Amino acid sequence: MKYPLTLLTAQLLVSLSGMATEPAPLSFNKDIRPILSDRCFACHGPDGEKRKAGLRLDTAEGATALLESGERAIVPGKSKESALFERIHSSDPKEIMPPAKLNRPLSEAERGFLTRWIDEGAVYAKHWAFSPPEKYPAPAVKDCAWAKDDIDRFILQKLEDQGLAPNAEADRAALLRRVSFVLTGLPPTPEQLAAFLRDPAPNAYEKQVDALLASPRYGERMALDWRTPMDISRTMAVSSGRGATG
Ligand code: HEC
Repeated sequence: MKYPLTLLTAQLLVSLSGMATEPAPLSFNKDIRPILSDRCFACHGPDGEKRKAGLRLDTAEGATALLESGERAIVPGKSKESALFERIHSSDPKEIMPPAKLNRPLSEAERGFLTRWIDEGAVYAKHWAFSPPEKYPAPAVKDCAWAKDDIDRFILQKLEDQGLAPNAEADRAALLRRVSFVLTGLPPTPEQLAAFLRDPAPNAYEKQVDALLASPRYGERMALDWRTPMDISRTMAVSSGRGATG
């Protein structure tokens, strides 16, 4: 397909301007909720009985409410006026949040995320499990030849962010060995390997994957993860006198 020159120029400008813009705003569900949930919700979460200082940080309403202390934990857009900012940066062991006894202090990076999120407006979002999936456009990458599909592009973007390049593709014997172990827990037989090495078809690898998926060894491998829980529940049933015949 031939592109008109103006369209190409427009695309180039879009990608160049994309490079110069600010980083995307933080996502509540991805960047912030895990921190709050892990370090704060035990005492400032949905459980009203365990809530300390009348502060709940799991809703925007609670986090921005005027507290008995006269403070607001979060003043959207203004980290420096937010009691939360004070508390996570405090050098006073009686003030610092989370309290030292939780034994899980925030890292520098986590404090930075919370601060940036407040300055970006402290936007809360519904728990991701209640939001319909959204389609994200695949990111732009430099090594366009390596990426065969959008999943590759997401992976490659992270590698390029870190200044890393993908490894060269492994040889056929290594590929078959890896996929066999992943799907069946077993190495390929010499016959399978020989057939794969001989197969000139462009989809030779896909054919091997299909054959492995169709193999009873695949089902056995997948059932393995269920064996332990099933053994445990049977042992419990037996020891409690139920299901003694099982
Ligand atoms: C183990 C319980 C516990 C955890 C976990 C905890 N806090 Fe607290 N928090 C308290 C208690 C108790 C107080 C009230 C005493 C005080 O002011 O120090 C408080 C007070 C606060 C206040 C001041 C509220 C006011 O009335 O001015 C803020 C802000 C705060 N916490 C933020 C946080 C943040 C942010 C986290 C997570 C990073 C967190 N807390 C984790 C127990 C906890």
